[in-house]
Amino acid sequence: MKNLVLVGFMGSGKTAVGKQAAAQLGLRFVDTDDLIEQRAGKTISAIFADDGEPHFRALERAVVQHVAATSDQVIATGGGVVLNPANISDFAATGVVICLWAEPEAILQRTATSRHRPLLEQDADREKRLRELLAQREPLYRAISLQVDNTHTTVEQDVERVIRIYRDQTTGM
Ligand code: S3P
Repeated sequence: MKNLVLVGFMGSGKTAVGKQAAAQLGLRFVDTDDLIEQRAGKTISAIFADDGEPHFRALERAVVQHVAATSDQVIATGGGVVLNPANISDFAATGVVICLWAEPEAILQRTATSRHRPLLEQDADREKRLRELLAQREPLYRAISLQVDNTHTTVEQDVERVIRIYRDQTTGM
């Protein structure tokens, strides 16, 4: 079975939706951030603090190449995976790539208490930082042809929609 790959900004629901979709499809759930932490032997926050973002992106690239080479997985990615177009083309070669999108207000609410997202914690004004990052990346997320806007929906509804898209894409309908 082809992979189902979820991309999208921090707080767009990739992990929550991905875990349930994997359970329903009978596929393995993989989170690229978890694999990066395992390989580095430290948390994402520690990688950013000790080694910097370019090092994190290099680790992320290596993990993407590794997971994209295997099938039968639902893959939740880190929000910045779209920054390197090679990541998306590798995922597209072996999977169905779906972008989860939510409006900034929803993202802000969902990430308000997050303590493991260094890119949102570098600035005292979290909302300003989030809006800047989202604006910079919006064209990259919009460039993914399969989109699910979950600003106003539940995780259960999102799982249903994502599975429907995945089935349509893999049965050639
Ligand atoms: C990042 C998102 C994070 C994580 C890292 C960088 C980003 O993943 O990969 O902190 O650049 O948007 P989540 O989207 O799962 O929070």
